[in-house]
Amino acid sequence: MIQIKKAQVQDIPFIALLWQDKLQAPWTEEMIKDSFERENVVTMIAVSETPQNGKQDCESCVGFLMASFLEEAELYALVVKKTVQRQGIGQRLLENLLDFLKDKNVGSLFLEVSVENTKAVSFYENGGFKKVGERPHYYLKKIEEKEGAWVMALVLRKSL
Ligand SMILES: CC(C)(COP(=O)(O)OP(=O)(O)OC[C@H]1O[C@@H](n2cnc3c(N)ncnc32)[C@H](O)[C@@H]1OP(=O)(O)O)[C@@H](O)C(=O)NCCC(=O)NCCS
Repeated sequence: MIQIKKAQVQDIPFIALLWQDKLQAPWTEEMIKDSFERENVVTMIAVSETPQNGKQDCESCVGFLMASFLEEAELYALVVKKTVQRQGIGQRLLENLLDFLKDKNVGSLFLEVSVENTKAVSFYENGGFKKVGERPHYYLKKIEEKEGAWVMALVLRKSL
């Protein structure tokens, strides 16, 4: 059984570690902490019934997402621990975010994802996102080597 909760300060080391492990341009613990103080940023954590991470902080955490929102929202990161991927946890996190954003009357949710990250593109397409643009040479892969990103969007509220 997985529970989705609002992330707390004690979850920051777990979030930073997972972010660093799985995504380009990860945020530092300091940047994540600063974002907790911003009213228009939401961070959610997926927690398992059983400990998954040994004796570190947030020992039962298995994934997180972070998004900012005003009239539109932007997904900054969504990561599920590799050992528990493909069990519906990413989808649960996303559904909780969508409920939260609909409550705030947000119009659409945007994100950027590497064109090479075909698993994540499939995940977002499964969630109803559409490719709405492309940013060439967006992520720095290695020195002098960059990869493009898709811009994807999900409409939450039809405009009148
Ligand atoms: C993308 C990610 C968050 C998906 O999380 P997850 O918990 O494994 O995904 P779910 O189990 O909720 O998958 C829901 C659906 O998405 C699609 N999907 C998920 N992973 C997929 C994969 N590896 N290949 C193809 N489709 C996939 C499937 O349609 C899946 O439904 P199904 O399992 O019934 O076929 C996870 O793979 C991850 O953390 N990746 C590394 C970080 C990353 O790339 N994040 C996204 C960029 S911000």
